[in-house]
Amino acid sequence: SDLSSFIAALPKAELHLHIEGSFEPELMFAIAERNGIRLPYGSVEELRSAYAFNNLQEFLDIYYQGMNVLQKEEDYYDLTIAYLKRIKADNVRHTEIFWDPQGHLERGIPFSTQIDGILRALKEGEETLDISYRLIMSFLRHLSEESAFDTLAEAEPYLQEIYAIGLDSSETGHPPEKFARVFAACKDKGLKVTAHAGEEGPAEYVWQALDLIKVDRIDHGNRSLEDPELVKRLAADQQVLTVCPLSNLKLCVVSDLNEHPVPAMLNAGLKATINSDDPAYFGGYMNDNLNALQQAVNLDQRQLVTLTRNAIDGSWATEERKQVLR
Ligand code: HPA
Ligand code: ZN
Repeated sequence: SDLSSFIAALPKAELHLHIEGSFEPELMFAIAERNGIRLPYGSVEELRSAYAFNNLQEFLDIYYQGMNVLQKEEDYYDLTIAYLKRIKADNVRHTEIFWDPQGHLERGIPFSTQIDGILRALKEGEETLDISYRLIMSFLRHLSEESAFDTLAEAEPYLQEIYAIGLDSSETGHPPEKFARVFAACKDKGLKVTAHAGEEGPAEYVWQALDLIKVDRIDHGNRSLEDPELVKRLAADQQVLTVCPLSNLKLCVVSDLNEHPVPAMLNAGLKATINSDDPAYFGGYMNDNLNALQQAVNLDQRQLVTLTRNAIDGSWATEERKQVLR
């Protein structure tokens, strides 16, 4: 049945969104031009047509290339405010966004330039669009533990503005255990922690995220379903999973949306949530993800309410804000 109006009207929280992955080609070209950078694509259409991926790494190569045009504080502001205006149309009322400081530090962009622009937009969005937020600093797992510690040191003056730490980028070959010590240091500073796990990597990486990183939630988590003991553990802990259907389809984590694991997760009592991950690259924001999944696996209204409620309950919004959103 057509539940698109029902989906559109639900108040939503987004818990898995890379701000660099919300970089729409039109804005990318505009910022490239004003910064005097030539993109290796002749047009917006040509760039969009390059968004065809067989796996996570093929996407990441294009994602890191895209963020290269971000140079000035206003670039980070423009990127972030564009995302907030776009999700307002989807009735997203709270968002917890990742950003990848190492992807910019490597190019010589100061930490303060990045975070000042992002925070200026987030604060403006909270005031003018009534979208509450948390900012999550994410470590790139293909880089070293030392680089993660260096990045944490850069973040020190901003720790009041950074709510949590994440772990993303190339999963296979970069297990959570590689970052156990730096995440322990983050927890000592009172930060929440989360990690991408079980997207392409095995269930073993989800166990490591739980036991070695002691995550407060799991990003993706799809492959957890391969391990019944792990499913039991996730259900017992009521661990939140930030699942991303269109991302999974575009990165070939699932071969067809009608095989998506969300119904199995809900049936197993797991706290699944729906998110857009990198909407500019994967072809859809929150409502697009919910609509595509609803149609593919025939979710009913009760399941849709459960998914959006899981996100509000599992968010890091204040209890007062959660009450407003429920
Ligand atoms: N997985 C891992 N790293 C990422 C992703 C993702 O889906 N998006 C941006 N960085
Ligand atoms: Zn992600």
